[in-house]
Amino acid sequence: MEFFNVISTRRSIRTYQETAVEHDKLERILATLNMAPSAGDLQAYEIVVVQHAAAKHDLAAAAHGQGFLAQAPVVMVFFADPSRSAARYAVRGEKLFSIQDATIAASHAQLAATALGLGSCWVGAFDDRHVAEILGAPARLHPVCMLAIGYAAERPVHTSRRPLSDLVHDEAFTS
Ligand SMILES: Cc1cc2nc3c(=O)[nH]c(=O)nc-3n(C[C@H](O)[C@H](O)[C@H](O)COP(=O)(O)O)c2cc1C
Repeated sequence: MEFFNVISTRRSIRTYQETAVEHDKLERILATLNMAPSAGDLQAYEIVVVQHAAAKHDLAAAAHGQGFLAQAPVVMVFFADPSRSAARYAVRGEKLFSIQDATIAASHAQLAATALGLGSCWVGAFDDRHVAEILGAPARLHPVCMLAIGYAAERPVHTSRRPLSDLVHDEAFTS
């Protein structure tokens, strides 16, 4: 799909078909996110690809009952690795860059999913400790977001956006 079509086509999908996501599409998504920029090229994040029903069910519970996480064939969980970035960038790496690295990778993954004809939804509302525990994450890793991925079983309307004039400032903020 052409880049600007991908951007305008993507919307959050919260109802999925049972159809499995093909292995080569998953590989393509992973290869795409691995091309994302990261601070110092450190890629201070790790990802868990979850496809087993029991684990997805537990993740849905950890996400305050967001049941579509259990319904989606795939859930990718993105963890920041603050220590990896802190080794070079100290507090800025720990508190900011590792989160940004994980977020940009997840964004690449979401757009890749769209380009491959898949639906997805970014999930940020969850209990961090519960998610880490379900997936047996090492203590140094912090879950940043989850991406539900699968074939869409709905076509939601586009949500509205703030007008650019509200969020873009010419040269500087004016009072
Ligand atoms: C940081 C972040 C956290 C989000 N958390 C959730 C969530 O927990 N559950 C959910 O259903 N959608 C979540 N979303 C999706 C947003 O609700 C959605 O992107 C927004 O309403 C715009 O709709 P669109 O994605 O269809 O353009 C999240 C999105 C972002 C970027």
